[in-house]
Amino acid sequence: MIGTGLAVYVDYGATVNRFACRFVSNSTKFSSPLFICGTEMSLKVYIAGELVDKADAKVSVFDHGFLYGDGVFEGIRVYNGRVFLMDEHIERLYESALAIRLEIPLSPAEMTEAVNKTVAANGITEGYVRLVISRGAGTLGLDIRRTSDPQVIIIADTISLYPPEMYRDGLKVVTASTIRNHAGALSPRIKSLNYLNNILAKIEATDTGCIEALMLNAQGEVAECTGDNIFIVKDGVLKTPPPEAGILEGITRGAVMGLARQAGLTVQEVAMVRHDIYIADECFLTGTAAEVIPVVDLDGRKIGSGTPGPVTKDLLERFQTLKTGG
Ligand SMILES: Cc1ncc(COP(=O)(O)O)c(C=O)c1O
Repeated sequence: MIGTGLAVYVDYGATVNRFACRFVSNSTKFSSPLFICGTEMSLKVYIAGELVDKADAKVSVFDHGFLYGDGVFEGIRVYNGRVFLMDEHIERLYESALAIRLEIPLSPAEMTEAVNKTVAANGITEGYVRLVISRGAGTLGLDIRRTSDPQVIIIADTISLYPPEMYRDGLKVVTASTIRNHAGALSPRIKSLNYLNNILAKIEATDTGCIEALMLNAQGEVAECTGDNIFIVKDGVLKTPPPEAGILEGITRGAVMGLARQAGLTVQEVAMVRHDIYIADECFLTGTAAEVIPVVDLDGRKIGSGTPGPVTKDLLERFQTLKTGG
């Protein structure tokens, strides 16, 4: 069968298919959806203040973003032609940049405008924006004083979604042996271009057939997953690790906490260990790409009933309404 629009599966954050692409087969398997990209229009990438063809969007191999992962980024969703929670993402971007002493050559207002312009130029109404700020080209050493021209790159593209059955049935997650970066080494609150910590844990997840891994901090407490924040429901209370546990303060996490409070739930940011997840009534993850996704198994332990619970389902629904402007 030939379908149009959204592709079957792309991993967190990766956005590979132009909106003009079509896929053959309605399979929801992970592997190899077959794309037909006959009428593909050229992707325009914002770089050095201009929108250029994807093929011409290039940075120097001496850019410290490439050499050292020295830079910051954001991933943002576009729903109904609207950049979702733009202000929150822009704020976190500038906070991340401040923390690594990277001066972004645009003001937040100019950045917002550049994002909107890039989304419009690519005709994206449902999609994903990747905003990357790299340190800029320099010498081969680490010294940031010997770099210049931080690069602002904005890519707006379509996003392929996790298969619907993952939302219906929930995910199985494993705990990675790779611990989350110690905040004293590199704070997980910084959304930096250096994701090796998360990638190493992600390898552990995929090696065991999972798409997400739980990461603990150096104290053995629950931190977050490789690209998502984690929540549990226990005795009617919604709980999630606090920033001090060594997490990225997810924008989706913040939105979901707000929705939960609106729904009358008690929300607690508390330290947790793996045992708390094992004995939870419900568990779910939040993230820009995954949105709100139930977890029904951690390390081979069934969580709650082993199916997505009522609070999770309710919050998932509320999030669907929020994202479409409801
Ligand atoms: C390590 C990590 N934690 C949590 C999240 C979720 O954050 P957000 O909801 O802002 O996408 C992400 C996604 O970017 C992430 O990379």
